[in-house]
Amino acid sequence: MKFIKLFFLFGLSTALIPLEVKGKRFIKPNVDAKKDGEVFFIKGIDYQPGGSSAYDSSTGTDALSDSEACYRDAYAFQQLGLNTIRIYSLNPDTNHDECVTIFNNAGIYLLLDVNSAEYGSNLNRADPEGTYDATYLTRIFKFIEAFKNYPNVLGFFSGNEVINDQSDYAETVPKYIRAVQRDMKQYISKYSNRTIPVGYSAADNTDLRRATLEYLQCNNNNDDSNSDFFGLNSYQWCSGISDWESSGYNVLNSTLNNASIPLLFSEFGCNTNSPRTFDEISEGLFDGLLYTFSGGLVYEYSQEVSNYGVVEINDDNSITYLTDFVNLKNQYNISQIPTILSSDVTKSSLDTCDATIITNIYSSFGADFDIPEQPSEITDLIQYGVNATNIGKLIDNVEAKKSNYTVYDTSTSQIDSATVIFYASDTINSQTGTSSATHSATSSTQTLGSTKTSSSAKTSSSKGMGVSSFKIPSIFALFFALMI
Ligand SMILES: *[C@@H]1O[C@H](CO)[C@@H](O)[C@H](O)[C@H]1NC(C)=O
Ligand SMILES: *[C@@H]1O[C@H](CO)[C@@H](O)[C@H](O)[C@H]1NC(C)=O
Ligand SMILES: *[C@@H]1O[C@H](CO)[C@@H](O)[C@H](O)[C@H]1NC(C)=O
Ligand SMILES: *[C@@H]1O[C@H](CO)[C@@H](O)[C@H](O)[C@H]1NC(C)=O
Ligand SMILES: *[C@@H]1O[C@H](CO)[C@@H](O)[C@H](O)[C@H]1NC(C)=O
Ligand SMILES: *[C@@H]1O[C@H](CO)[C@@H](O)[C@H](O)[C@H]1NC(C)=O
Repeated sequence: MKFIKLFFLFGLSTALIPLEVKGKRFIKPNVDAKKDGEVFFIKGIDYQPGGSSAYDSSTGTDALSDSEACYRDAYAFQQLGLNTIRIYSLNPDTNHDECVTIFNNAGIYLLLDVNSAEYGSNLNRADPEGTYDATYLTRIFKFIEAFKNYPNVLGFFSGNEVINDQSDYAETVPKYIRAVQRDMKQYISKYSNRTIPVGYSAADNTDLRRATLEYLQCNNNNDDSNSDFFGLNSYQWCSGISDWESSGYNVLNSTLNNASIPLLFSEFGCNTNSPRTFDEISEGLFDGLLYTFSGGLVYEYSQEVSNYGVVEINDDNSITYLTDFVNLKNQYNISQIPTILSSDVTKSSLDTCDATIITNIYSSFGADFDIPEQPSEITDLIQYGVNATNIGKLIDNVEAKKSNYTVYDTSTSQIDSATVIFYASDTINSQTGTSSATHSATSSTQTLGSTKTSSSAKTSSSKGMGVSSFKIPSIFALFFALMI
């Protein structure tokens, strides 16, 4: 480790390899392009220090503008064993290079919402037609420019919970989400040198979620308006009360397993009972839902008025771990994720859009595939570009250092060793810090072998599996049987 840190003192910086979408999975390509990549599962958290109301474009600051906060939180993310964070509101004109480089070097990917709550910076669900315009798309295109060159950007959310109210908006809004996604993907394909996935984050409305997924994932005459991944904000499993059945995870698993794009929980972590134990991670998300979902993001990192935080951010910018922090860390740690090779993932072509499939699921869904025409001002923005001046890039000479903001543990003792670790090679963060393609590929072979060939899989898998181990082997057996 000392050697690794020294390496970075001399200014070398190693980019994470960009993730790609294949079928219903995210793939981390092998650094050696001739070798097989691996399926990527999200162990994540939602990151909006200050809460949703903290963002104000006139200040010029946002969640990725204070590098000391990024050093502090990158350290905490490494302790939690995270590989991904989601950020909701960012300023396309602010320089994010240092923070994004810190997270990149720490092995952490970013899922970014392109919107903010400010007027002109989102699609208003009550007036989609009036707010789908060049002002809004200018913000989005500048946002793409600001983030397109960071290799650790996993994807962009085109919208969050816009299709919400089935009595009204689910009839009018859906086609506008597709219009925005079409425009984003056209811009990315013209101005970015890689395909950055574009997805949508849905409210967990049990009537709407499957219709929304079916509506957004299908191929509409190759117009590129489909989502590349689908997030669900799911709060159905509450600590200490819920299990696989009562949470409805069983229904999620059986109704959404036909998805042809990656699914994730873009928010989860019901807080009815506090502290949260997050048993839905090892007993649900990384157990029975492994075949259907690709992990998720806990809502949320910092304690805000809504009481979902795992750390408290104090007035002097120090942080204090809450009990939820320790519980979350434990759950991500005991969840053993199988290694699945990219070659074992099927990439079938997307289904052709068919409104009756969607209205059969939810009759009043606005399953309109006549996507709003692109206004000529937006076509021009795509044709000529937005002439962005803030085009982010990873920077060298960022040092793996301890933040000057203090980190306190749950007993409010100062953690003296709170220095982020920068990895020397393309390494995704995990609690052990040893996740590398070669290492995992070996363990994959072993897992597959034992599952396939012996009925003693139960005992052998139980060892590393932690609390819910008795339930895992059969699911894994099925899971692998399906993958092969
Ligand atoms: C994409 O752009 C980035 C940043 O400019 C550059 O580092 C990278 O080499 C480019 N990749 C390709 C394949 O051109
Ligand atoms: C899943 O797809 C199969 C084959 O296309 C189909 O028979 C089945 O009804 C689908 N199930 C759901 C829940 O959509
Ligand atoms: C979840 O769905 C997959 C795919 O249909 C299935 O193989 C698996 O058995 C299901 N898991 C549980 C725990 O029912
Ligand atoms: C993770 O769990 C393993 C046992 O499964 C334990 O040996 C290890 O210390 C834990 N790591 C952390 C960082 O808690
Ligand atoms: C960007 O610059 C080009 C060339 O100067 C110009 O034609 C175009 O209108 C500009 N676009 C915007 C959005 O300002
Ligand atoms: C932390 O460092 C930043 C810049 O490196 C500086 O502006 C700030 O005053 C420092 N804060 C503390 C509490 O030392």
